[in-house]
Amino acid sequence: MLCSVFINTVNNAAKAVGPYTITKDGLRDSMAINYLGHLVFTENLLPLLIQTSKQEGSDVRIINVSSKAHTMVAPTSFVGKDNFNKSYGTSFISDLHTYGLSKLASIQYTKRLQRRLDAQDAPIICISVHPGGVVTPSVSIFLANRAPVVKQFFSFLVSITFVSARQGAMNSAYAAASPEVRAKVETFKGVYLEPVGQVVKPSPQAEDERLGNELHDATLEVLKELGL
Ligand SMILES: NC(=O)c1ccc[n+]([C@@H]2O[C@H](COP(=O)([O-])OP(=O)(O)OC[C@H]3O[C@@H](n4cnc5c(N)ncnc54)[C@H](OP(=O)(O)O)[C@@H]3O)[C@@H](O)[C@H]2O)c1
Repeated sequence: MLCSVFINTVNNAAKAVGPYTITKDGLRDSMAINYLGHLVFTENLLPLLIQTSKQEGSDVRIINVSSKAHTMVAPTSFVGKDNFNKSYGTSFISDLHTYGLSKLASIQYTKRLQRRLDAQDAPIICISVHPGGVVTPSVSIFLANRAPVVKQFFSFLVSITFVSARQGAMNSAYAAASPEVRAKVETFKGVYLEPVGQVVKPSPQAEDERLGNELHDATLEVLKELGL
């Protein structure tokens, strides 16, 4: 009997609203939760995912939930822990930049992971997704902490531009489960998707190989310090 194996991991957890602080491990919490946590989880599962992907009839995918906010930031370096932990300040816009940096790191990681898996002939598809503007608890927290006039403005903006949580899950669901993605594997490997299923070029920094190598080295440094 032919048995099909379908495994997808969707790394979705994030701290999406500031203020961003330093954790007890000495890491910027946005980077620790939104990037490093996904990386450690994925790397631990990787041997099993690779083994499974080589079985007949399997379809293994790794989906990292990123954000269009990655385009709001243009890092020039990821060398060392200071750049890994970079904060852009404490204003609303600065928080978005700090958040965006973690989402840019996530796209860089997804692309690098795809290249590593391709080099091992593991037929796993890795994709970064932006879910769109979605009404979720993060948005409520963000609105709750604003001055009345700002709250009124953003509530209006959210009401006309954001989608429901169900609709917001569609891009991740498409990346993780659509048969079209497996059928057009070369179109979707390592890409960044905007809703729903649209392959979009991420920011130049998210594709910059030098920044990717620096991020890789800084990540290894951080993991070593953590004893991982
Ligand atoms: N909403 C948007 O408009 C939007 C736009 C672009 C991208 N995104 C991305 O979409 C994803 C989902 O966002 P959302 O709006 O649904 O956010 P959310 O409502 O704040 O949900 C975030 C989720 O992450 C979990 N989480 C946070 N910190 C964690 C930690 N340290 N360890 C484990 N789990 C943790 C939370 O778990 P608990 O509930 O247990 O705390 C919650 O389930 C995120 O990656 C976000 O960056 C969202």
